[in-house]
Amino acid sequence: MSIEQLADTAQAMVAPGKGIIAIDESTNTIGKRFAAVGVENTEENRRAYREMLLTAPKLSEHVSGAILYDETLRQSTRAGVPFAAYLAEQGMLPGIKVDRGTTALAGFPGELVTEGLDGLRGRLEEYYRLGARFAKWRAVINIGDDIPTGTCIEVNAHALSRYAALCQEQGLVPMVEPEVLMDGAHDIETAYEVTEAVLRSLFGALYEQNVLLEGTILKASMVVAGKDCAEQPDVQEVAESTLMCLKSTVPAILPGVVFLSGGQDDEHATAHLDAMNRLGPNPWTLSFSYGRAMQQAALALWAKDMAGNVRKAQDLVLARARANGLAALGQWQGG
Ligand code: 13P
Repeated sequence: MSIEQLADTAQAMVAPGKGIIAIDESTNTIGKRFAAVGVENTEENRRAYREMLLTAPKLSEHVSGAILYDETLRQSTRAGVPFAAYLAEQGMLPGIKVDRGTTALAGFPGELVTEGLDGLRGRLEEYYRLGARFAKWRAVINIGDDIPTGTCIEVNAHALSRYAALCQEQGLVPMVEPEVLMDGAHDIETAYEVTEAVLRSLFGALYEQNVLLEGTILKASMVVAGKDCAEQPDVQEVAESTLMCLKSTVPAILPGVVFLSGGQDDEHATAHLDAMNRLGPNPWTLSFSYGRAMQQAALALWAKDMAGNVRKAQDLVLARARANGLAALGQWQGG
């Protein structure tokens, strides 16, 4: 696989006014989302739900690709078209979550490390054959008393860069995701310091593992205060802090940074992205790779009548895609 092909895929992922829809929840995680709205967590319900999302009319006007879960990459529309083939027909790139989730980091209470490197080369080979063109790996960094430790940051950066090198070897663009959680009462300054340390460590590790940044996408968390912090920054402060943090850590050759929503409500996720783009021009394209901030309104409506509300739920997905697509251009008008 040539670097040109990887770079082309990475550029397509962050095409102007487009971003990624993340629908790669594990069976366990989607089960929690379904339980909250009274939907049973069966394979057919998961398939039908993902079909509703992916076949929203005109989604490809604002969405360049979708991150799928292993099960979803192997599923098809009701009409029998594999989701990967459906996406490709529509001009959207199929992506795949390839990490195997987090586990407690031995010796470091309260900290996590992401697993999934064993056998990854073979899995990536298969995912490419099934149509995936990019892959995602999520590391999770908790902020709390005396954490994160340097060790936690380092082992997660190491795993992310091992995964990224394997992806590029197999022709998949790695979307590297070091998520700094917004759980807790920490202030925005603490989030800034932690995010800065995490990104510095990550890009050092990517360099050491010979990962080509032209064919890599960063999935970043925004620099926000913890959910339980009494002092919540306004939209402009989040935008300025996040941009400053990225500018001091992320090489300009990277084609794009896409953000996770991480528990922000829909409005804030969009407003923050829009504000960052209005502060541009920036060295890299800034767009979205939202999960909850793309889906939550649609899921709630679909759950009320899974067969009858498909078009109405799709309208909500499309509205979120359009708003975030405009925010990726710094042209969102609010509302
Ligand atoms: P959220 O936007 O819901 O945080 O999900 C994005 C994602 O893919 C997290 O790994």
